[in-house]
Amino acid sequence: MSEKQNNQNGSSHAAVLVIMEMTDNMARFNRILKNEEYKAVLREIEIIEKGRKFCPHTIEHFLDTARIMYIISLEKDLKISKDIIYAAALLHDVGRVSEYKEGKAHEIVSADFAMKILPECGFTNDEIFDIVNAILCHGNGKSRENALGNLLYRADKLSRNCFCCNAANECYWDDSIKNKEIIY
Ligand SMILES: [Fe+2]
Ligand SMILES: [Fe+2]
Repeated sequence: MSEKQNNQNGSSHAAVLVIMEMTDNMARFNRILKNEEYKAVLREIEIIEKGRKFCPHTIEHFLDTARIMYIISLEKDLKISKDIIYAAALLHDVGRVSEYKEGKAHEIVSADFAMKILPECGFTNDEIFDIVNAILCHGNGKSRENALGNLLYRADKLSRNCFCCNAANECYWDDSIKNKEIIY
């Protein structure tokens, strides 16, 4: 085999490894999406929020939050794994149904839900600890000491398109924290 062919084989082998690694990295947070309990809770939120004029808690909100978290983490070189970022964002608001129906704090219900399904999705105990803690403090900004929680809090707020929201005048958010322009 010529050196050129060797190089070509070497680079295509490397490309396959990169693709395999990407698929592997994607696998764990995509397992959340495929989890039946997760799918059921998304449907429940959709039903209970039907007609809600304020920010909904849909998969779009979860993904907007995840992607903003990921962008900020890259910009700031936070070195937080994509799996952990997406897991925290996908799960942070799943407790909304219990909040609407039973008045429970959704952060706590979401954290309980995360503890239940994340082991099945292949997350380690240390990762689950970080994700759950971030979820628990995502609503109140008390996560300043917690890099993942801080990131989740910021991205959660930044994900909302206040600048084109018809319900902005009735929204309980203080005007100072409403998003007046696009940042991410
Ligand atoms: Fe929330
Ligand atoms: Fe949220």
